[in-house]
Amino acid sequence: MSTVFHRLPKQLLPVAVAGEGIEIIDSTGKRYIDASGGAAVSCLGHSNQRVIDAIKRQSQQLPYAHTSFFTTEPAEALADRLVASAPQGLEHVYFVSGGSEAIEAALKLARQYFVEKGEPRRRHFIARRQSYHGNTLGALAIGGNAWRREPFLPILIEAHHVSPCYAYREQRADETEEAFAQRLADELERKILELGADTVAAFIAETVVGATAGAVPPVREYFRKIRAVCDRYGVLLILDEIMSGMGRTGYLYACEEDGVAPDILTIAKGLGAGYQPIGATLVSERIYQAIVGGSGFFQHGHTYIGHATACAAALEVQRVIEEDNLLPNVLARGEQLRVRLREHYAQHPHIGDVRGRGLFVGVELVRDRAGKTPFDAALKLHAAIRREAFARGLMVYPMGGTVDGKIGDHVLLAPPFICTARDIDEIVSRLTDAIDGALAAV
Ligand SMILES: Cc1ncc(COP(=O)(O)O)c(C=O)c1O
Repeated sequence: MSTVFHRLPKQLLPVAVAGEGIEIIDSTGKRYIDASGGAAVSCLGHSNQRVIDAIKRQSQQLPYAHTSFFTTEPAEALADRLVASAPQGLEHVYFVSGGSEAIEAALKLARQYFVEKGEPRRRHFIARRQSYHGNTLGALAIGGNAWRREPFLPILIEAHHVSPCYAYREQRADETEEAFAQRLADELERKILELGADTVAAFIAETVVGATAGAVPPVREYFRKIRAVCDRYGVLLILDEIMSGMGRTGYLYACEEDGVAPDILTIAKGLGAGYQPIGATLVSERIYQAIVGGSGFFQHGHTYIGHATACAAALEVQRVIEEDNLLPNVLARGEQLRVRLREHYAQHPHIGDVRGRGLFVGVELVRDRAGKTPFDAALKLHAAIRREAFARGLMVYPMGGTVDGKIGDHVLLAPPFICTARDIDEIVSRLTDAIDGALAAV
């Protein structure tokens, strides 16, 4: 009987004892290909010597210094590096220890910005249904993941939701991508007007939706139109790239592909690649100046913000991604992964959609392809796929509630950026077996 309060307390978990490239090895010697990077975290695999050495060096020199007394070299260098490649206007970095903390900082930054500006009425946050922004109360409140929110509804702050940009299910057959994007931008505009344009602080969205709906990319023009609506009403645009950022889509910042720059951008997961817990909130010069030129500081902070060893690890992760030229590999292997899956599933009755960007890929399962009818939620197909895959030595990230938080099943794949073409073929082979095994079992 374990004294750890586990995430899945009723499940007997294997003990992970080692990592080697894209594999994790348990105490019995069984190997698992990490085709989801855990939860889209381990982008360099599990044994990158450069990152391990950087952590050793930093912890020998100085593991940690509290940020109210000192700054550190790795924090300064990492922030410079992130800003140098960030979307235009994002000039400052607030370091935290993970994704939810990055979102909390983003929400409070947006709110404090308007207080400093003399617009204290701006308090509403608008997000999208079928989104996830974290499990702390603020992040959970704005998220649109129905089942994760439900037990906590009475203690969540008020938040507002509009439709996701989920082309497979929401784009009408007679609608172009452009018309679909326009319809969604119009819906956001109506929501802003309904709440009162001078009361809305920010619109927040995942650039590519991650765990809740399974690697759902926006259609072209969507974010440009959204940006225009936000600008029309002085509403800030917050993009959550905690899962989709730091190279996962083949671009360091996923929104580069959409040609937009947000006012605030959150990253985590791939930033430290799992070698250290770290996240960050990037902020525009305008917001920074309003706060620093106003009350002088951001009224926030945690003990571990700007943690020296975490920053040193993330700095080395980012150097490896650049020096090993990994982003072209993300694009090539991601394309290979989608093509192989589509080839395999061309005639499969239960694969409705294969989608994503870079090495961020979603497979949506349906009872029938023509009607896009989901499986009965009680079957828990997603859980069966997870089990079948794990038994075959494959880690993937399946989830239910794809359609509306209750029904629908998908599998999310987010393999390490170091994957080879052979690795991708092996992942496809094990995954297709696992899906067929799960379908036979439910
Ligand atoms: C898009 C997105 N935002 C926020 C979070 C929360 O991050 P964390 O689990 O590190 O708190 C996640 C985690 O999965 C995420 O995918």
